[in-house]
Amino acid sequence: MSTKNNKHVLFLIVLFFFLFLGEASNYHVYVINIMKSNVTIHCKSKDDDLGVHVLSYGKPYEWSFNVNFWKTTLFFCGFISQYGSGVYDIFRADRDLGRCRICLWEVREDGVHGFKDNASNDDLWFKWQ
Ligand SMILES: *[C@@H]1O[C@H](CO)[C@@H](O)[C@H](O)[C@H]1NC(C)=O
Ligand SMILES: *[C@@H]1O[C@H](CO)[C@@H](O)[C@H](O)[C@H]1NC(C)=O
Repeated sequence: MSTKNNKHVLFLIVLFFFLFLGEASNYHVYVINIMKSNVTIHCKSKDDDLGVHVLSYGKPYEWSFNVNFWKTTLFFCGFISQYGSGVYDIFRADRDLGRCRICLWEVREDGVHGFKDNASNDDLWFKWQ
């Protein structure tokens, strides 16, 4: 093979690698309030402040992001409700990479419940602090 062809092959390999990485690193978090009263939520990562949002009953709040190369991506959220409040890790790459791609959280009277992809039962439960 000529050097020119080798360059083309290398280019294609690099291109597919980045397409694959881009595709493979897209994560979504959904937080749904299933309490009859509002919850105030404020999520942040080291680099992003997602702002303060008030979620009424049944209202989902979501965002998506890529996990960084070092797999240290962390989002934590503060919750304030009439039943209690707390600050919890809502996405943590070291915990969640194999756990969920669409990471669902339900805010309930007894705290914040986390679900694996497509799971019908929660596997994480943060009680109000
Ligand atoms: C709950 O949130 C909704 C939507 O943000 C708002 O319109 C409503 O006034 C809030 N209710 C209370 C009791 O704060
Ligand atoms: C979850 O369900 C969706 C849609 O039914 C499916 O495409 C996806 O592969 C499922 N994920 C897992 C981890 O089972």
